[in-house]
Amino acid sequence: MDKFVILGGDHLEGTFSVSGAKNASLPLMAATLLASGQHQLSNIPELRDVRTMAHLLRIIGARAELADHKLSIDTTHCSFWEAPYELVKTMRASIYVLGPLLARFGEAKVSLPGGCAWGPRPVDLHIMGMERLGAKIELEGGYIHARADRLKGARVTFPISSVGATGNVLMAAALADGVTVIQNAACEPEIVALAEFINKMGGKVEGAGSDRIEIEGVSELKPAPFDNIADRIEAGTILSAIALAGGDVNLVNLRPNHIESVIDCLEQAGFKLQVGETSIRITADRKAVAVGIRTAPYPGFPTDMQAQWIALMSLSGGSCSVTDTIYRDRFTHVAELRRLGADIAVEGNTAYVRGVDSLQGAPVMSTDLRASACLIMAGLAAKGRTDLSRVYHIDRGYERIEERLRSIGARIERVDEPMQV
Ligand code: UD1
Repeated sequence: MDKFVILGGDHLEGTFSVSGAKNASLPLMAATLLASGQHQLSNIPELRDVRTMAHLLRIIGARAELADHKLSIDTTHCSFWEAPYELVKTMRASIYVLGPLLARFGEAKVSLPGGCAWGPRPVDLHIMGMERLGAKIELEGGYIHARADRLKGARVTFPISSVGATGNVLMAAALADGVTVIQNAACEPEIVALAEFINKMGGKVEGAGSDRIEIEGVSELKPAPFDNIADRIEAGTILSAIALAGGDVNLVNLRPNHIESVIDCLEQAGFKLQVGETSIRITADRKAVAVGIRTAPYPGFPTDMQAQWIALMSLSGGSCSVTDTIYRDRFTHVAELRRLGADIAVEGNTAYVRGVDSLQGAPVMSTDLRASACLIMAGLAAKGRTDLSRVYHIDRGYERIEERLRSIGARIERVDEPMQV
């Protein structure tokens, strides 16, 4: 199993190019099932989750080839409408195939994802959305079995904002009979990208990016090339890493308007940011001012940046609280940050962070994707050596992160850690 060996204490300098968004790639890939033919998606990151989704599409009968960040998917011969447990349990976003399979084949069988390190993470809203569009749903043998001859447009009002359920209903409604209105829709940029892709394929979606999306179903969609958006969470992570370790880095190929909440918080924390059209230069030569945050649906502060913000605040000049309102149990990184000398207490869904003078390197363990990111950040800022094990988590969401961090001066190596017996 691979681990990272990080030697901390160096400033980071240079240019960092941000990857395509993982969380947009996955629904875009699922949406290719809506239109039979040859699809071309570009700016797709070469990540484990993307490979898992490609594997799932192949099981369904598609051809999928990823090379040089271009993904070709041929959905002409898709005929199998099942997403097996073996795959869904490794990646919850597999649930994104539910809507497109149901819309295209009138039937879909998708495994229930099961538990998650951040708490229960139910899929009831995905199911409710499909039922509102007229699907008959049975839960049997750990699977969601959905059937509908032709889905029918309907009003779908979500009690809470869900990115995944909004995306699933959007895809299903694109081929439904009549008009669907999603109320309290998720406003995330990944939903906007998905809507733009569906419209490029001939769909009729309006209002994506607001909390009311209207979809007029069409009888057929046709493949169209699509260029994926930049990964706003990777951008926020690297900005926070530089803020923590110190340095002067120009991030390029990103969309600053997708991370305004993070930019605001970094500025409040005392860092200088020069924001361009598709770039942000950050200059960090001082400790952060303590700034408390509460995560919230977009355009609020992202839950996927909560761990990184705690890492940054662990070396701040004061105390603050970090509350996660989306995933209330998402704090496994705190115990690992404490191993590096951070002073953090968790009560309920709030972490109370008291800034310390320095962090010291130590062996630590990745517990999930964003927890791994925050531990890399802390390792880069800590004195001495940090060994971060179980880095397969980070490979799910950050492409060749060690090589790209080395290019801005980080000392981080991937080494093969022999299995302990
Ligand atoms: C997506 C992101 C994930 C991010 C999350 C919130 C992908 C692949 N993943 O996950 O990285 O952390 O958005 O920004 O894009 N909920 C229900 N019932 C449901 C669905 C969701 O109660 O059927 C709840 C969840 O438990 C959570 C909240 O709704 O508390 C938001 O979750 P949701 O937006 O659906 O997250 P995902 O789409 O799974």
